[in-house]
Amino acid sequence: SKKMMVTFTLNGKETDVVVEPRELLIHTLREKCLHTGPHIGCDSSHCGACTVDIDGMSVKSCTMLTVQADGAEMLTIEGFAKDGELHALQEGFMQEHGLQCGFCTPGMITRAYRLLKENPNPSEEDIRYWMAGNLCRCTGYQNIVKAIQYAAKKLRGEPVQTSYP
Ligand code: FES
Ligand code: FES
Repeated sequence: SKKMMVTFTLNGKETDVVVEPRELLIHTLREKCLHTGPHIGCDSSHCGACTVDIDGMSVKSCTMLTVQADGAEMLTIEGFAKDGELHALQEGFMQEHGLQCGFCTPGMITRAYRLLKENPNPSEEDIRYWMAGNLCRCTGYQNIVKAIQYAAKKLRGEPVQTSYP
């Protein structure tokens, strides 16, 4: 079928891709942009491993066509660390053991990023509700909640307790 040119900003960088109209955003990100942080856990909108942030919303990128992202501003896990410094969420996941195999982590962090933009001081219940569409088969979620609480504190400028330097 006819290919289309799509332009978006990916982690601050202007990016052009040529895609078929039916191509899913997750496939474009991974195969054409070589951003393999967003993972494919199900391809059917259940797991959240493919979550990216688009124009101020968190989106499961297996549910969106690439052509729908034309003109968008996009953030993936690749855009989180700056100048060799981890983002507060990445630090939180490290400090609080928020991951085991790590497969869900890019989606978890990207989803939590949008939560903390909208609600800098979420309760545990808020966090669990917000993260309900992101599945993890390793951690049992408790440490993911703690990791997000850690990041929220740090982003609010409050002291955090670190276990690792
Ligand atoms: Fe998109 Fe699972 S791969 S929700
Ligand atoms: Fe393994 Fe979440 S750390 S799926």
